[in-house]
Amino acid sequence: MLDIAFAKAALPKSGALALFIAEAAAPTGLAAALDEHLAGGLTRALAAAKFTGKKGQTATLLAPAEGFTRIVAIGLGKATDLTARSAEQAGGHAAAALKSEESATIAADELPPELAAHIGLGARLRAYRFDIYRTTIKPEDKPKLAKLTLLAADPAKSRTAYAPLQAVAYGVEFTRDLVSEPANILTPAIMADRAETLESLGLKVEIFSPKDMAKLGFGALLGVAQGSAEEARMVVMQWHGAAQSEKPGEKPAKGGKKLKNPIAFIGKGVTFDTGGISIKPAAGMEDMKWDMAGAGAVVGLMAALAGRKARVDAIGIVGLVENMPSGTAQRPGDVVKSYSGQTIEVLNTDAEGRLVLADVIAYTQKRFAPRFMIDLATLTGAIIVGLGHEYAGLFANDDALADQLIAAGKATGEGVWRMPLGDAYDKQINSDIADMKNIGGGRAGGSITAAQFIQRFVDTKSGPMPWAHLDIAGMAWAAKDSPTTPKGATAFGVRLLDCLVADHYES
Ligand code: BES
Ligand code: MN
Ligand code: ZN
Repeated sequence: MLDIAFAKAALPKSGALALFIAEAAAPTGLAAALDEHLAGGLTRALAAAKFTGKKGQTATLLAPAEGFTRIVAIGLGKATDLTARSAEQAGGHAAAALKSEESATIAADELPPELAAHIGLGARLRAYRFDIYRTTIKPEDKPKLAKLTLLAADPAKSRTAYAPLQAVAYGVEFTRDLVSEPANILTPAIMADRAETLESLGLKVEIFSPKDMAKLGFGALLGVAQGSAEEARMVVMQWHGAAQSEKPGEKPAKGGKKLKNPIAFIGKGVTFDTGGISIKPAAGMEDMKWDMAGAGAVVGLMAALAGRKARVDAIGIVGLVENMPSGTAQRPGDVVKSYSGQTIEVLNTDAEGRLVLADVIAYTQKRFAPRFMIDLATLTGAIIVGLGHEYAGLFANDDALADQLIAAGKATGEGVWRMPLGDAYDKQINSDIADMKNIGGGRAGGSITAAQFIQRFVDTKSGPMPWAHLDIAGMAWAAKDSPTTPKGATAFGVRLLDCLVADHYES
C-alpha cells in the first residue's frame, strides 16, 4: 500500500519529483522554482519533448542535476477543465512514472488543497498491486514506490480532505484483493471470513450457512451451490452511521438498535462459475474466478463507508456460491422454489447469478425494508457485447435513482449506461411449468431479460421500492492499465456507490 503524506511547499534539491503543467502554460510555483534551479533546463527539456501539457502527457528528465534521480512532468489538460477526477488521473500518471523509485515527491502546490488530496487518491489507486503469489520477481522488475509526499499549498487542509479518500482507497484495495484471488483460495466460506474481518471497522457482520439458508427457503441460491463441494454463504453487513449526526465523533453502536430506513447494496458472489451442467467452453474460463466481483464491490463499499464513518445506515448483503458440475449438480429443467415463494424453471445452469440474486434481494427487502436496493453483478456476457468495457449496464425502476447513479458515474469515472426494462422483455421469461424460467427465448436482449428476472424479486405490490441493477461483467476486470487502475481487478462500483451515498444519502 502506497503511503501518502502532505508537506509544505518547498523545492526539494534531490530525489524524484513529479510536477503538473496545464495545457499551454508555463511552469509556476515549485515547477518554476525548479526550472530556475536547473537554469531553464525544465522548460528546455519540455520543449524538446514537445510537451504541451495535454491531459495525460508525461515527460521524464533523468538525473537533470546533481542529486535528482528523475523529474516527471505530467500534463493536466486545460486548467479550466480541472476536476477531482482529472486530478486523480494526474496522480495516477505520476505514480506510474515514479514506480521504480522507493519514495518520491509530488509538487501539488499550485492546486487547491482538495484537488491535491485527489492527486494522492489517484496515485494510491494506481500503485495497487497483487503480487502475493509471485516469489521470483527480479528486484529490478519489482515496483518499489512505497511513499509519496505531496507538497501542497495548505498541507493541513489537504490532509483533512484526504482522510475520507483514504478510507475509500482502502475499500477499493480490499475489493481488488478479493477479486484477484484465485477460486481455490477464495471459496465462499473464505470470502465470508474476509468480510467478517471488517468488524474491526465497526461493521456488524452476520454469516449464514447452507443450513440457515435452507431454513429460510433459499431454493434458488442453494440450487446453484448444490453441485459444489464448497458450502454456500450469505453475508449480511450493517453499518449504523446515521445516528452519528447527533453525537459526532462517537463510534456507532455495533448492532442492537434497529436500522431506520437503511440503504441496501446486494452483490453476486459466484467464487467460480464453470457454468454448471450447462458447462462453459474451456477458453477463458479462468476469468470466472472474478464472477464474485459484484459481491467484492459490496464488501469494499461497506469498508469504505465504515472507514470514513459515513453518516448513513447501510446494509451490504452478498450471496456466495460456487457453480460446479457434478453428480449432485442442478440439472437443466429442474424447478426450484425461491425465498419469495415464486418458482423457477432452471433451463440453463450457467444463468446462475440471477438465481443467487433472486433470494438475496427478496430477503433484503423483507428483512430491512430499505430505502432503495442496488445490486451489482457480473451477470451477462451480453452486456459486454452491448457496452464493451466503457460502461456498466444500469437497469432501474426509478428515474431519480438512475439519474443519481449516472451523475456519480460521471464524477468518479465509473460510468453507467441506462438500459431499458419493459413488459415485452418480461414476457420472455415466462415458463410453461413454473412461474418463470431463468433465461429468455434466445440470445437477443440477454442482459435485459436477465434484469427482468431480477426485477421479479423486487416487491412493489405494497408500495414503491426503488431498485437499480448494475451489470458489471465488462467492468470488473481490466485487460490493460488505465490512469487510476492497473490491469486486473478494478473494484468497479466501490467509488461509484460511495459517491452516490456521499452526494445524496448522508444526514
Ligand atoms: N458470469 C457469467 C457472465 C459473464 C460472462 C461475466 C463473461 C463476465 C464475463 C454469467 O453467469 C453467465 O454465464 N451468463 C450467461 C447467461 C446465459 C446462459 C443466458 C451468458 O452471459 O452467457
Ligand atoms: Mn454463468
Ligand atoms: Zn456467473
